[in-house]
Amino acid sequence: MDSPLTIVVFGASGDLAAKKTYPTLFSLFVHNFLPQHTQIVGYARSKLSKDELIKKITPYIKPKNEAEKETMKKFFELLSYVAGAYDDGAAFKNLNDELVKWEDNFESAANRMHYLALPPSVFQPVTTHIKAEVMASEESQKWTRVIIEKPFGKDSVSSAVLSNHLASLFTEEQIYRIDHYLGKEMVQNLLIMRFANAMFQPIWNRNYIECVRVTFKEPFGTQGRGGYFDEFGIIRDILQNHLLQVLCIVAMEKPASLDADDLRNEKVKVLKAIKGLSMDDTVLGQYVASNIPNDEDSKLGYLDDKTVPDDSKTPTYASTVLYVENERWDGVPFIMKAGKALDERKADIRIQFKDAPGDIFSALGGEVHRNELVIRLQPDEAVYMKLNIKSPGLRSRPLQAELDVTYKDRFEDERLPDAYERLLLDVIRGQQGHFVRSDELAEAWRIFTPLLHDIDAGLVESHDYAYGSRGPSLGDDLAKKFGYKYHKGA
Ligand code: BG6
Repeated sequence: MDSPLTIVVFGASGDLAAKKTYPTLFSLFVHNFLPQHTQIVGYARSKLSKDELIKKITPYIKPKNEAEKETMKKFFELLSYVAGAYDDGAAFKNLNDELVKWEDNFESAANRMHYLALPPSVFQPVTTHIKAEVMASEESQKWTRVIIEKPFGKDSVSSAVLSNHLASLFTEEQIYRIDHYLGKEMVQNLLIMRFANAMFQPIWNRNYIECVRVTFKEPFGTQGRGGYFDEFGIIRDILQNHLLQVLCIVAMEKPASLDADDLRNEKVKVLKAIKGLSMDDTVLGQYVASNIPNDEDSKLGYLDDKTVPDDSKTPTYASTVLYVENERWDGVPFIMKAGKALDERKADIRIQFKDAPGDIFSALGGEVHRNELVIRLQPDEAVYMKLNIKSPGLRSRPLQAELDVTYKDRFEDERLPDAYERLLLDVIRGQQGHFVRSDELAEAWRIFTPLLHDIDAGLVESHDYAYGSRGPSLGDDLAKKFGYKYHKGA
């Protein structure tokens, strides 16, 4: 029988817990992925009753049918709540006493999983007190795993301070740094696509690939999260972690195995081969109000968010270029772009191959297009390859078409779990491959820190763009400058 599992959600009364952590745990419960004996204990400063907690999280838990509604009631039975400060040893002792009351019902000691749905300002005291008061029994060989969410610092130095602090308390095997992009279906799919298809091996390099583009677009602004966002900006929020992780998987060599460290060793090698970024090849932007019919939010620019200082220069859009200076990739630009309040919700990877040499078809009319492999992370997970075919019928000019695996058409009945669900299950199973290791994190900060400091010092110009637009037009110019050819829909 599985050992009992205690899950503590620190910051249980907050937004992240309500919107992500509890719904994810519910989903794991519905699909029978939690151990038979599990308790889920919320901990936060607010004095809440269990009923009040349930009231807070219920709007975000979405049972799909009557049976799941019943299951939701059973899920609520697993929950409890303890109030306490984040820097008070006695409160953590009290938390531990509460955990033990339930754990004592079982013969076997319990494992413990601590989820920090907390702002970074309290990471240090909370982890210190976890170590002092709330670890699982080592004597009974039970594990304690601590899950933390970005931001892991603001630059190389602050991140190293946090890493050193965590390393003084826990082993690397106990620390799970979440980057939820690593839990996305299509990011995980990349590994299989790249390393299980022989046809990609000979062409996945500088000889055949002209450029790679990784894009993240969101069609809404800060939505009241301006206070958090303004301190970090789009580079720390999206590029330094989510997009860089995606780049690593596109660029890495085949790992010796799928073991967590083999995987992460290869990612670290990619990061080490990225020397840095150029301020001259970076475009920054901040959105301003526009007036999209039926979209009230569009009337608010970034600076209209009450939680954002009036003179904030924080970028809500950034596009930049990275080079992986190794044998496989030298000279191939990786163009990264991320923005809020843009024209659509989309995250994708576009691998653009070189032009086919020796064009013999232009005389026929039509245009020979580059091959492009697109991996669409969201919405509508898909992999498709743009290629040239003969236009059907009597005409014989080239026509661009797609070999298309769109998941919702191909796997109609398959449930694609949310990224968090996959990752929390990995934590329960002790699989760290899709979590960020401390050396990876340090390299990621090394790459971005000089640029971030220049931005913080006001040395990089920022361009206004209208809410709901494609972002500053200089962003598209940058992609073109680095060899990207736009197709329809790119
Ligand atoms: C988070 C960022 O990490 O990712 C948010 O902090 C962003 O600003 C979110 O909205 C995007 O995640 P997803 O899964 O919706 O692409």
